[in-house]
Amino acid sequence: MGISAESLAAKLPADFVLGVATAAFQIEGAVAEDGRGPSGWDAFSHQPGRIVDGSNADVACDHYHRMYEDVELIHALGADSYRFSLSWPRIQPDGRGQVNRKGLDFYDRLLDQLLERGISPMCTIYHWDTPLPLEQAGGWLNRETAYRLADFAAIAAEAFGDRVHRWVTINEPTTVTLNGYGLGLHAPGIPHLFECLPAAHHLLLGHGLSVQALRAANVPGEVGITNVYSPVVPATGSFGNELVVQLYDILFNAMFSDPVLLGRYPQFNPLLAPFLAYFHAIPPEDIALMNLPLDFYGMNYYFPSRIAPGPGPLTGPHARPEGVPEEFLDDPQDLPFHMTGWPGYDRTGFGWPVAPQYLGVALAEMARRYPALPPLYITEGGASFTDVVVEDALTGEPEVPDVKRVDYLGDHINAALEATAPGGPAEGIDLRGYYVWTLMDNFEWAAGFSQRFGLVYVDFAAQKRIPKLSYKWLQSVTSLRSAVEEAPQRLS
Ligand code: FCB
Repeated sequence: MGISAESLAAKLPADFVLGVATAAFQIEGAVAEDGRGPSGWDAFSHQPGRIVDGSNADVACDHYHRMYEDVELIHALGADSYRFSLSWPRIQPDGRGQVNRKGLDFYDRLLDQLLERGISPMCTIYHWDTPLPLEQAGGWLNRETAYRLADFAAIAAEAFGDRVHRWVTINEPTTVTLNGYGLGLHAPGIPHLFECLPAAHHLLLGHGLSVQALRAANVPGEVGITNVYSPVVPATGSFGNELVVQLYDILFNAMFSDPVLLGRYPQFNPLLAPFLAYFHAIPPEDIALMNLPLDFYGMNYYFPSRIAPGPGPLTGPHARPEGVPEEFLDDPQDLPFHMTGWPGYDRTGFGWPVAPQYLGVALAEMARRYPALPPLYITEGGASFTDVVVEDALTGEPEVPDVKRVDYLGDHINAALEATAPGGPAEGIDLRGYYVWTLMDNFEWAAGFSQRFGLVYVDFAAQKRIPKLSYKWLQSVTSLRSAVEEAPQRLS
């Protein structure tokens, strides 16, 4: 497949936002500088065996020191918008109380620089880097963390409200809940299996309280959340398989989107009650907070999930999240399902199937499930591949011919446009933009530096940035299309 830059540019609506996304912990480094406190992820990544390649994010892309250079890359790309996250422990080292002025200063500089370059800022308040003292007090299993996040949101609103065009309260509560507290593959690293459900609830409560804090501060920017979505399909036609598909779909998708968009926890087949009984213990006032009206909804899409019943084999390429050592799947016997492979599909470096048509399915399912869905941004999408730096035969310059990433991005953006076009299966959705994950190769959580997702190649030893072919391709798309009519200026 693959769509040319010309065809894609011609298809993009004039006001469609093409952006790039990053997250603080994955790029900033400078973990002990200018008053930043430790995060749960600092502690976790320093524990032996947690990160596939034994790395940590102490330096990462050194973005804290190279911010101007990196914003220049976003500018030269012609991106309309940059989605970044605030490092909570850089701004509020203990996760409560005292604010670190130098932490605020860094994002002041970043925001000013973005606006000066005509790039619209989308700011994620929480992208997984919980301050360590809060993680040690139970993290998201502790209801208290939701209130601390709302305090942090209020600090952010006061400091940056005049310049942030769009706020994302929380990035992918699914992943924090399931990988962090369910399987223990992410920080804090203790597998609670189905006992992780309170973390989901507290994250959503933290979202609601943060929306409340942003509204109370009267931020002129738009407010939303980012959830990841994966269409779930059964591996076989059995009744048991249908049941675990429903269970997986609830745990991965609906548990996070239903409370936000429908104001209730998902309904389920009573046979699943042993796993989901927690839903019945929820106070209605919590649900009301989770369901506060949003200006937009953020959806991350990477791949669909094919689910089979039973704990499944422990080995084999698709029995567990890719790139994660087996010993971290503590007691998978207790899980009633497992992920299986997708025969016939190309795969990314993580082993994820390359399935752009399922982005269309994801959007169609969202349209069907949530008729009152606010305007939608695809806040992340992208792929890791093995990138090789070669020397250009003519110029001698280093090049990264990441053709597969070019195809991945083109096909996915195209699939989203087609699904939401008049007559498409998701025509009810007001799709406003697509953010590529990610600007540059970075610290990919438990996979360390083993998975490269960037439009820009990073030579981590030399901290050298080399724009890949995909960067140049997106650059042609942005220069070929008509400019986005959005005034990138102070909001008040
Ligand atoms: C998403 C995360 C992002 C990055 C991509 C590959 O789940 O939000 O930080 O790790 O996956």
